[in-house]
Amino acid sequence: MRRMMGRTALVTGAADGLGAAIAARLASEGARIGIIDRSEEAIEKARQSESLASAVFIAGDLTDGDDIARMMADFAARDMVFDILVNNAGGSLHTPRAFLEETDEDWDRVMTLNVTAAVRISRHVLPGMISAGFGRVINLGSKAGRYGSLFTGANYVAAKGAIQSMTLQMAQEFGPKGITCNAVCPGAISTPRVERLLNERMTPEERQRALEGVPVRRHGRVEDVAAAVAFFASDEAGFITGQLLDVNGGQGMAS
Ligand SMILES: NC(=O)c1ccc[n+]([C@@H]2O[C@H](COP(=O)([O-])OP(=O)(O)OC[C@H]3O[C@@H](n4cnc5c(N)ncnc54)[C@H](O)[C@@H]3O)[C@@H](O)[C@H]2O)c1
Repeated sequence: MRRMMGRTALVTGAADGLGAAIAARLASEGARIGIIDRSEEAIEKARQSESLASAVFIAGDLTDGDDIARMMADFAARDMVFDILVNNAGGSLHTPRAFLEETDEDWDRVMTLNVTAAVRISRHVLPGMISAGFGRVINLGSKAGRYGSLFTGANYVAAKGAIQSMTLQMAQEFGPKGITCNAVCPGAISTPRVERLLNERMTPEERQRALEGVPVRRHGRVEDVAAAVAFFASDEAGFITGQLLDVNGGQGMAS
């Protein structure tokens, strides 16, 4: 499928993890890709992969508004105007699961990366989409933000709840401009980082029980999330906006 020929996509936090798989999938469908990531090491590694060889990588910190402005100016200098934005960067940043152990700083860090960064990046990208009369914004929510979490804390759950709700309002506001805004909400996806966290916070028996609660009886893969994002990013999803799509093997369902 070459559904994204002629489109330019920005994926945040995409030198590794879900973001890298999303960027690779959009690239495989023909999109020109811009990637922001903080890790020079991850960027070097991602550059070597065939699927991201032609992506434009810019290193910087998404928790810093000035750095975001610098990176966006850098993309503009390369004539990159984005039709597709994937606000992917996020995570629980290894903060405690226990509510009473989470400090103000734990709340601030998680909110800044998961919510404020997406707000700031969107503010930079939306004017170009409005001028073009076309845009696709896809935010990364989470099963945690929809149904609570077995292994992350209230700060992460609240941050994902915020970005999921923000998705609805952005869809309301920018729909008349030709821009759709949706969220993909994954369950636990097998990445080395998540495997480490799960092994730390759940016993093998708890993990086995959790797997038995997944109707499709397998863990999620990065490709599962990338496929859902690619659908929302495609032209054919133009009548779908303000939706939160669970990608969790049926572990959490809502009617
Ligand atoms: N992995 C999962 O199981 C899972 C489940 C549900 C939702 N999600 C969500 O999906 C998204 C991606 O998750 P992941 O597990 O791939 O993340 P990750 O922790 O593996 O990070 C991916 C990339 O983001 C970059 N990054 C982190 N902080 C940054 C910053 N301040 N500035 C710039 N880059 C930064 C990292 O360098 C890394 O390359 C997140 O929003 C996460 O909350 C993940």
